Order: sequence, then structure tokens, then C-alpha cells
Amino acid sequence: MSRFARGCAALLCAVSIGATAQDFGDTPYVQTPQVVVDAMLETAKVGRNDYVIDLGSGDGRMVITAARKYGARGFGVDLDKRLVALANANARKAGVADRARFFARDLFATDLSPASVITIYLLPEVNLMNRARILALKPGTRVVSHDYGMGDWQPDVEFEMDAPGKSVGRNQRSKVLYWVVPDRMAGRWVWTFAGEGRKHAIELLLRQNYQKLEASATLDGRALPVESATMSGTRLDVVLNLPGAGRVSFSGTRINQALDGEMVAAGVKSPWSAVRTEIIDQVHVNAPPPVIREFAQ
Ligand SMILES: C[S@@+](CC[C@H](N)C(=O)[O-])C[C@H]1O[C@@H](n2cnc3c(N)ncnc32)[C@H](O)[C@@H]1O
Repeated sequence: MSRFARGCAALLCAVSIGATAQDFGDTPYVQTPQVVVDAMLETAKVGRNDYVIDLGSGDGRMVITAARKYGARGFGVDLDKRLVALANANARKAGVADRARFFARDLFATDLSPASVITIYLLPEVNLMNRARILALKPGTRVVSHDYGMGDWQPDVEFEMDAPGKSVGRNQRSKVLYWVVPDRMAGRWVWTFAGEGRKHAIELLLRQNYQKLEASATLDGRALPVESATMSGTRLDVVLNLPGAGRVSFSGTRINQALDGEMVAAGVKSPWSAVRTEIIDQVHVNAPPPVIREFAQ
């Protein structure tokens, strides 16, 4: 039995009430209730341009729902060949076999790079084992997980919901956790701002731990409070309080060492760009690798 299987057996199956949890032999299998599948795909805003990869795809419900309801494409992988056959049969029944395919494959040997959305219902340790691969995906890739997190990488969105028919746990509730793979935004960004009849130099220093930013700024070399600095994928949003102009928002998308976008001052939009003059390491990249505890025997 694999490490995952032992862990799964210990964590998922030990609390199973047994009625609908199915065991397809060696590899434990627990379904995500359909209402939770729907909520996960809605949270990730899956649409017709998305490519969804489900890691440990069971009966195929994630990718099949993504194809049937939202017109997305994608595939799922599972170690259990019988589940893979069932998922492909379910895709045919749902009329989406051309857009939802399933392969007997180890998720750790699966190329994740085509994904715009990754769906998972795996144990926290398995999520941690996968985390570095997910963080290395194209910034902006969305990840949605049923019940379990990714260690100290905090989700962008997390909520609990009723999960009628859930075959594990005591209270028929599920957690949905959602992340956007962050770009590498840390560094010193500079631009000029025209105000009070002259140009001012703005410098913004961003430190980054996953998608969380710590920001400080100067205006013509003097400290300037940063009202907010947030990022999602390749997009940065900053709000500064500028003397004479008030609250000004700057939003842009990173392309190489430039940010391109718009600024809004006193309700008036205009183009905005900044350049990065120094790149700073992201805190999470230099952090020691996560400790992944052995599954209980
Ligand atoms: C908890 S079930 C989730 C099934 C489905 N995604 C859902 O949400 O209904 C986890 C699934 O992952 C599969 N699995 C476990 N380890 C795997 C691995 N290393 N590679 C591929 N599939 C794996 C199991 O066979 C099982 O079907």
C-alpha cells in the first residue's frame, strides 16, 4: 500500500461512516459531494477557456462538471485503473468525453503545466509534497482544494459549507480553500507622478511571502505611507496617499521588469507604468522546506 493510501486510510477512512465512502481496493477513495464540487468550481470561476486538472480524480466528477457546466476542458489522473475506467465512462455518459479525459497515472508524475485550474481532494501531507510544484506553475494558475490546506501558504479564499451526503467527518460540512499562484513581485519599483506642477519620484519596496506583500514607499526620498498593497497572480494593486492628490490607486500587470496598467486619481483614470530596479528574493522561496510528517501506520 502506498504512503498516500496508508495516510488516506488513517485520516479519511478512519472517520468514515461507511455508507457511501467507497474502497476501490488498494487506494482509498472518498467522493467530494456534488454541491462541494459546484462550489469549488464556482470559487475558481471556471469558464470555457479553462483547462482543469484534477489530481486524484476518482469518478471524474470535478473535470466532468467543469466540462458539462462551464464548457471547460481538462483531465484527471488516478492511481486506480478501475476509477479511471469509471470516470471515462461517466464522461461519455455526460456527453463530454472529448473534453474530459482520465488517465491511470501517479499525480506526482503528471505534468501540471497545461492547467489554468487545479482541483484537489488530497491529504494535507500530499498537498505539502505537491506545493513546490504548484508554486512553480504559471503565475495566475488557480488551485482549489476540498478540506485540506497547504501548510503555511494561506489560501486567498477559505469557507465552510454544508456537505449533505459527505461520507467522512461527523458534521456533514466541508471546507473549500482557494489560491492563485503568485507571481514574483518582490523588489524595488519606481515611477514618476505629476502633481502640484511638477514630477515626483515614487519608490515602492515590496517584500513577498507567497502572495502576501509588505510594502514601504518614498516620495522624492521621503517616507510615504502605503495604504494597501495586494497582488493576485501577475497583478499588483497599490493605494498611496499623495500630498495634493489624495488617495491614488495604481494597478498593473507585471511583464519582465515592468508593471503596466492604470492609475486612478480623483476618479480620473490614466495609464501607469513602473520599472523594477532591484529584485528581492521571496521569503517563502528561501524558507526551509516543509516538514512532511510520516503517515501513521
Ligand atoms: C479523496 S479521493 C478524491 C476523488 C475526487 N477527486 C473527488 O473529489 O471526488 C482521492 C483520490 O486520489 C487518488 N490518488 C491517491 N494517490 C494518488 C496518486 N499518487 N496519484 C494519483 N491518484 C492518487 C485515489 O485513488 C482517490 O481516488
